[in-house]
Amino acid sequence: MAKIAVIGLGYVGITTAVGMGRLGHDVIGYDISSDRVMVLSEAKAPIHEDGLEEALGSLKQSGKVSFTHTYQEVSDFKADYFFICVPTPQDASGAANLTFVLAAAKELSQIAPADAIVVLKSTVPVGSGERVKQALSRSDLHVASNPEFLREGSALHDFMKPDRIIVGAASEQVSTRVLELYGDISSRKIATSVESAELIKYSTNAYLAMRLSFVNDLAALCEKVGASVDDLVDGLGSDSRIGPSFLSPGPGWGGSCFPKDTRALVSVASDFGLDLPLIDAALESNEASLSRVVENIKELAGGSLEGKVIGVWGLAFKANTDDIRESPAMNIVARLLARGSEVIAFDPVALAPKASGFSQVQNAELAAAGVDVLAVLTEWPEFAQVDPIKVSESMKSKAVMDARRVLPVDAWRSAVDNFRVLGG
Ligand code: UGA
Repeated sequence: MAKIAVIGLGYVGITTAVGMGRLGHDVIGYDISSDRVMVLSEAKAPIHEDGLEEALGSLKQSGKVSFTHTYQEVSDFKADYFFICVPTPQDASGAANLTFVLAAAKELSQIAPADAIVVLKSTVPVGSGERVKQALSRSDLHVASNPEFLREGSALHDFMKPDRIIVGAASEQVSTRVLELYGDISSRKIATSVESAELIKYSTNAYLAMRLSFVNDLAALCEKVGASVDDLVDGLGSDSRIGPSFLSPGPGWGGSCFPKDTRALVSVASDFGLDLPLIDAALESNEASLSRVVENIKELAGGSLEGKVIGVWGLAFKANTDDIRESPAMNIVARLLARGSEVIAFDPVALAPKASGFSQVQNAELAAAGVDVLAVLTEWPEFAQVDPIKVSESMKSKAVMDARRVLPVDAWRSAVDNFRVLGG
């Protein structure tokens, strides 16, 4: 079994540490935040992720995974592999900022034993592997790229059952060493160059984002021509060349990855003098999707948002996570506030910062009481269980916009005066 150090304990790092521990490796996880390390050391999950707390608890008992906030302890651990999982935020131009990645590489250059492999898990633009190699500036260390394809909310499942495992390295010997860490996982394992691995990650997210923009545009067309978007998606997804997954229309795509990664891909291409018009169009279409939801709410509010009270169900960027980064729901709420509305919101787990300019209440019913329009912006399944008649009785105007297609249409249509569902 290998000794693995994981640098950076966000979604990707925590999942990597836990996943590698479950595969039987000895793992140390490092994070600059001593608070985060303390929480993890007590086997508590600092993020909302299915099964994480149980997994942390059993790994704590077996002693397979430990956490630290000092590089000294990472050094003492004498790992053979160092997985860099620190954030790569977007800078003003849309490019990925490598400051944290390169700072981690500099630290590792001081402590990594000879022949260790530094593995890039953070999503980084093509060419970053080379920059990490330079930052390490040690010929006895290797660099590999092992992009992650984890979805928030099902990250542990995705780690243990991935569609494929990609490892990019300069030599087959190095890629084989990294691929062997995943020995017990039967998924297809693909060895590539570092550059190809880096590009596969961005292309995957950009393709998925384009696919969602495509379906969101067609959902708008369905509304106009009276077609059923459910039938459309069913028919479309039944073509084996297209496939049924990742085709649910929504208010727009968001989260910490799609917006950042699509912009970063466009930015990398432009560094090489290349346009990527399809990806540009996906970003533009996403903007239009968000605006369409706001327009729908405005129409339901009688043609103006000024002074109206809008109830919002859902703030997270998708269900089963507490993450609001680049959340379509938060984006729409900000637009409503900018146009003079008051917003009362409920989310089962996500919390908006206090200074967001709207109130957050304890349950779905409270977020509907006295409102002019109720908008469903995250697809939490429990929203479908709320009694539409009870909700409608407490609303000021009985108008509802379901931008996630989560509410039972017939029950809601008969309970309120005006019910709109995205895609018709
Ligand atoms: C995404 C990718 O799915 C992961 O494979 C990748 O590892 C991750 O980014 C990353 O780069 O780290 P995630 O951001 O967790 O994962 O979210 P998704 O489940 O992909 O959803 C992204 C957005 O698309 C959300 O706003 C979601 O509501 C929306 N979406 C997704 C739809 O509107 N319809 C769908 O059918 C699926």
